[in-house]
Amino acid sequence: MYQSIASFVALISLLDCSAAQSSLLSASRATPASSRAATSTYSQSDVPTGTAIPGDYDDAYRPQVHFSPPQGFMNDPNGMFVDANGTYHLYYQYNPAANVAGRQHWGHATSQDLYTWTNQPIAIFPGGPTEGVFSGSAVVDVNNTSGFFPNQTNGVVAVYTINVPENQTQHIAYSHDGGYSFIKYADNPVISPGGTNPTQFRDPKVIWDVSTQRWVMVIAYPIDFEIGIFSSPNLINWTAESNFSHYGVTGLQYECPNLVEIPVQDSNLSESMYAMLISINPGAPLGGSITEYFLGSFNGTHFDALDSTVRFTDFSKDNYAGQFFYGIPSDEDQVTLNWASNWQYTNVVPTAGEELGDGFRSAMTVPRGHYIKNLTRFGPSLISYPWNIMSIVESELASNNSLDNGTVLLDYSNVKSGAVYFEANITGLTTSESLDGTLNFTFSSSVSGESISGGTFISNGDVWLDRGHTDGFSNPFFTDKFSATGLYNEDDGSWRLSGIIDRSIIEIFLNGGELSASSVFFPTRPLDTMALRVSGLNSTATASVGVWALKAAWLNQADVNGTVSGNVTSGGNSTRLGGMRLL
Ligand SMILES: *[C@@H]1O[C@H](CO)[C@@H](O)[C@H](O)[C@H]1NC(C)=O
Ligand SMILES: *[C@@H]1O[C@H](CO)[C@@H](O)[C@H](O)[C@H]1NC(C)=O
Ligand SMILES: *[C@@H]1O[C@H](CO)[C@@H](O)[C@H](O)[C@H]1NC(C)=O
Ligand SMILES: *[C@@H]1O[C@H](CO)[C@@H](O)[C@H](O)[C@H]1NC(C)=O
Ligand SMILES: *[C@@H]1O[C@H](CO)[C@@H](O)[C@H](O)[C@H]1NC(C)=O
Ligand SMILES: *[C@@H]1O[C@H](CO)[C@@H](O)[C@H](O)[C@H]1NC(C)=O
Ligand SMILES: *[C@@H]1O[C@H](CO)[C@@H](O)[C@H](O)[C@H]1NC(C)=O
Ligand SMILES: *[C@@H]1O[C@H](CO)[C@@H](O)[C@H](O)[C@H]1NC(C)=O
Ligand SMILES: *[C@@H]1O[C@H](CO)[C@@H](O)[C@H](O)[C@H]1NC(C)=O
Ligand SMILES: *[C@@H]1O[C@H](CO)[C@@H](O)[C@H](O)[C@H]1NC(C)=O
Ligand SMILES: *[C@@H]1O[C@H](CO)[C@@H](O)[C@H](O)[C@H]1NC(C)=O
Ligand SMILES: *[C@@H]1O[C@H](CO)[C@@H](O)[C@H](O)[C@H]1NC(C)=O
Repeated sequence: MYQSIASFVALISLLDCSAAQSSLLSASRATPASSRAATSTYSQSDVPTGTAIPGDYDDAYRPQVHFSPPQGFMNDPNGMFVDANGTYHLYYQYNPAANVAGRQHWGHATSQDLYTWTNQPIAIFPGGPTEGVFSGSAVVDVNNTSGFFPNQTNGVVAVYTINVPENQTQHIAYSHDGGYSFIKYADNPVISPGGTNPTQFRDPKVIWDVSTQRWVMVIAYPIDFEIGIFSSPNLINWTAESNFSHYGVTGLQYECPNLVEIPVQDSNLSESMYAMLISINPGAPLGGSITEYFLGSFNGTHFDALDSTVRFTDFSKDNYAGQFFYGIPSDEDQVTLNWASNWQYTNVVPTAGEELGDGFRSAMTVPRGHYIKNLTRFGPSLISYPWNIMSIVESELASNNSLDNGTVLLDYSNVKSGAVYFEANITGLTTSESLDGTLNFTFSSSVSGESISGGTFISNGDVWLDRGHTDGFSNPFFTDKFSATGLYNEDDGSWRLSGIIDRSIIEIFLNGGELSASSVFFPTRPLDTMALRVSGLNSTATASVGVWALKAAWLNQADVNGTVSGNVTSGGNSTRLGGMRLL
C-alpha cells in the first residue's frame, strides 16, 4: 500500500475531506452470519454496496486487455488467488469516491483468463470514518485451519492492514462464498503494531508453507527497511520468526513484500528457489516507485538470499506493488499482476478528470508469468513474460519468417481494441561475431504524428523505450526514456523483442522476459500505425516477425454507450460488510 511520509499527511487530509459524510455513518450493525463476526461496519452514502460499479470502457486511454477499475482510483493489487474452478480473483486498493488516492476499500474483479474481467461489488469496506483498508493478501483455507469453515473446502481468508491515523494493524476477514463477500473476524487485529513506529507496519502477504505445514506471512516495516516473516497454524495467532533487513536499494520505504517459491528452468540449479520481492517508494533509482527482488532459500522461518545482488523486476517506472496469485502449484510458472503506475504522477495522469465518473485512474500490467533462469553473467534471474498472451489474440495482422533487413508497416486503425501484440526474433546469431544490426518499433498516430518507440541494438544488447513523443501529459517526473542492457547467450543463437501496446500502456520484453518494461503514455490522438524495422543484420542472421490484433476484452462486454456494468447477477451478495445505505 502507498504511504510516503508526505503522502501520509495527504491521506489524512483526504480523509478529513470526507468528514462531511461522516454524519451519515452507521456505528455498527449486527452481522447475520456468525456470532464471531465483527460488528463494526461503516456505510458511506457515496459508495455502492452489493452491486458492481459501472464504468465507461470506451475512452481513448482505456486499455482493452489490461485490468482497470470502472471509475475512481486504483492502486495495489490485493488478495489475489485462484479458486478450485480456475477463477482468478483480483482485489485492489480502491477509492470508489474520487479519482485520486484515499478512502481505501478492496475493489474486486474476477476472470477466467486474466485478460477478460468481470467487475464485482466492492469486497471489503472500512469500519469507520478514519479507517483505510490497506493492502494485503488472501488464501484458500482448504483444511479449515482457521475454524471458520467447518463445512467447506473453498473458504477464503483475507489478511490486510487497517490504517488509522494512530497505527497500522493486521486484520483478517473470511468468506463463505468463495471470495465475493467477507465477514470481519471479531477479535481483530490479529497482529498489533511492531517496529519502531506504530503507523508504519503494513501489506501482509501470506503463503502456505508445505514443509512446516503452517501459514507464513511477509510484511513490511517500511521505514525500518525490514521485512518481517511471521508464521501461524491458523491465520489467527501469528509468531514473529525473523526479519529480512536492509537489503538492496532502500529508497525511503519498503512496501508490499512477496515471498514465493518459483520453478527454476536450468538443470544445474535446484528445481525451485524462493524469491523475496520488495517494492520501494519513494526514492527508487528512476524516481518514485519500483520493485526489486532477491533470490534464495526459505526454511520455514528464515529467507536466505543467494547473494547481495539487487535485481529489478522492470527497467522503466510503471510497475509497482506486484502480487503473486495464491493457489498456483509451486512447480508451475508463478503469475503476478502489477500496478502499472508510479506515485510520482499517478494522481494527475490524464485518464481522469476532476469529477468522479469522468474517467479512471490506473491499470494493472498484463498477467506476467515467472520462472527463474540462470542468465549469462547475471546469474539466476526472475523471468517476466506476458502470460498466455496468445489466448487473447483476435487475428494475425502480419507475419514474415524472413524479414532480413526489412520493414513491416501496418495500419491498425480498424482494430477495435487498438491493442496489438508483436514478436520479432533475430535468429542465426551463431557466434558473438555475428551480433550486428538494430531492431526498432514505432507506434504512431497518423493524425498527430505522436509516437511511442523502442528497440534494441543486437551488437551490445541495449534495449530502449521512448514515450517522449506524446503530448497528452507533461510532468517533471514523467521520465520519457528508459533503457537496459541484456546479454547474448550463444546457446540461444537468437535475440528477441516482443511487446504489447494497449491504448495508453506499453509493455516490452527482451528475450522472452529476461528484461521487461511497463510504461503508460498519453497521446492526444490514438496511435494507429506500426512500423517494425530491422537493419544491419549479419548475413547469417534473419528476422522472423509476427503482429497480432488483440481482442477488445472490455469493449466486447459493453453496451452501446461503452458502459460495462459488471456483475449484475450477484447483487446483494456482498452487502454484509457494507452495511445499509443510509439515505
Ligand atoms: C465451482 O463451481 C461450482 C458449480 O458452479 C460451485 O458449486 C462451487 O462452489 C465452485 N467452487 C468454488 C471454489 O468457487
Ligand atoms: C492440507 O492438508 C493436506 C493433508 O494434510 C496437506 O498436504 C496440505 O499441505 C494442507 N494444505 C493447506 C493449504 O492447508
Ligand atoms: C457453512 O458454515 C457457515 C458457517 O457456520 C454457514 O454460514 C454456511 O451457511 C454453511 N454452509 C452450508 C452450505 O451449510
Ligand atoms: C490503534 O489505534 C486505535 C485508534 O486510536 C486504537 O483504538 C487501537 O487500540 C490501536 N491499536 C493498537 C493495537 O495499538
Ligand atoms: C490463539 O490465541 C488466542 C487468544 O488470542 C488463544 O485463546 C488461543 O488459544 C490461541 N490458539 C492457538 C492455536 O495458539
Ligand atoms: C549459473 O551458470 C553459471 C555458468 O554460466 C554457473 O557458473 C553458475 O554456477 C550457475 N549458477 C548457479 C546458482 O547455479
Ligand atoms: C532456518 O535458517 C535459520 C538461519 O539461516 C536458522 O537459524 C534456523 O535454525 C533454520 N531453521 C530450520 C528449521 O532449519
Ligand atoms: C557474420 O558472422 C560470422 C560468424 O557467424 C562472422 O565470421 C562474420 O565476420 C560476420 N560478418 C560481419 C560482416 O560481421
Ligand atoms: C533504430 O533506432 C536507433 C536509435 O534511434 C537508430 O540508431 C537505428 O538506426 C534505428 N534502426 C532502424 C532500423 O531504424
Ligand atoms: C543486411 O544488411 C547488412 C549490412 O548492410 C548486410 O551485410 C547483410 O548482408 C544484409 N542482409 C541481407 C539478408 O540482405
Ligand atoms: C519467437 O521465438 C519464440 C521462442 O522461440 C517463439 O515461441 C515464437 O513463436 C517466435 N516468434 C516468431 C514471430 O517467430
Ligand atoms: C446510452 O446513452 C443515451 C444517452 O445518454 C441513453 O439515452 C441510453 O439509454 C443509453 N443506452 C444504454 C443502453 O444505456
